[in-house]
Amino acid sequence: QKVAVGRAHSKLILIGEHSVVYGQPAIAFPFKQIEVKVTVKNIGGNGIQIESPFYQGSIEQIPEKMEGIGDCIIQTLKVLEKRSSGLHIQIASSIPIGRGLGSSAAIAIALVRGLFSFFNQKLKHSQLMTLVERAEKFAHGTPSGIDMMAASSANPIWFQKQQEVESVKIGAPFHFVVADSGRVGDTYSAVKSIRDKYEMKPEQIEESIILLGKLAQEVRLALAAGNPQQVGDKLNQAHQQLSLLGVSDLGLDGLVEAARTAGALGAKLTGGGRGGCILALVKNEITGKKVADALIQAGAAQTWQYTIAKC
Ligand code: PMV
Repeated sequence: QKVAVGRAHSKLILIGEHSVVYGQPAIAFPFKQIEVKVTVKNIGGNGIQIESPFYQGSIEQIPEKMEGIGDCIIQTLKVLEKRSSGLHIQIASSIPIGRGLGSSAAIAIALVRGLFSFFNQKLKHSQLMTLVERAEKFAHGTPSGIDMMAASSANPIWFQKQQEVESVKIGAPFHFVVADSGRVGDTYSAVKSIRDKYEMKPEQIEESIILLGKLAQEVRLALAAGNPQQVGDKLNQAHQQLSLLGVSDLGLDGLVEAARTAGALGAKLTGGGRGGCILALVKNEITGKKVADALIQAGAAQTWQYTIAKC
């Protein structure tokens, strides 16, 4: 029996979510502790069988909220010029869904990689991005593309819409704690709410968007200089702007506050907001443990410690 595996890791937006939609730059990290694994097997017979935590059965009866996944499989097979029959596709994921951790992008990336590998075809990055972009449109409407770029990159990225992705220099290791609020965020409605406000009061929204872009530039320099104090300070400022834009909520503000009180150098929401995750920059793993404990005390469903290495 032929078996192939495709994998993709999670991602974290350090700074620039939402403002990235308006053309400002953003920084995102690969978050390799959690990932999606897709296993493709041939089982004979007709059709495609899917086995996932959310649905088990034929691709034909796939529920509407998984339409993007079904479409991604069909499109990938089209590109591969293969007939869609006799395949069993298993999707396993340790990335919590809807928490701003890029689960939808990672699933699509792992699927495309798994299918290309199953048919022994070489996959170009541009091919991968075209297929995943289409899948992401089902999940998010008009995504900026930062999720799929970060979830397919081994290194930190500097992302701006319609521009080549650049690498980000990291002057010293930086330690983070990521906390999951346990609540599903709603990126689609958060992006839309900013768009609605923008149409009503463009000056007010523009000010925050431009400031977030400027903060991203400053964070890039502070990362290169290996200056955690400065990065932390900018992350705090970014959270304030995201709150002004209306994409934080009491739960996320509470987690951000708990992290700062426990000794974090800075903390902010990460991803779409209104649920989902926060990230906190800490001095070292010992403070990280303290901050992680405080976050659990404050109601986080789970936490991860994460170090971005010098590069
Ligand atoms: O998928 P999420 O929740 O990490 O959000 C992506 C980041 C946004 O800037 C909010 C949206 C986008 O398309 O860039």
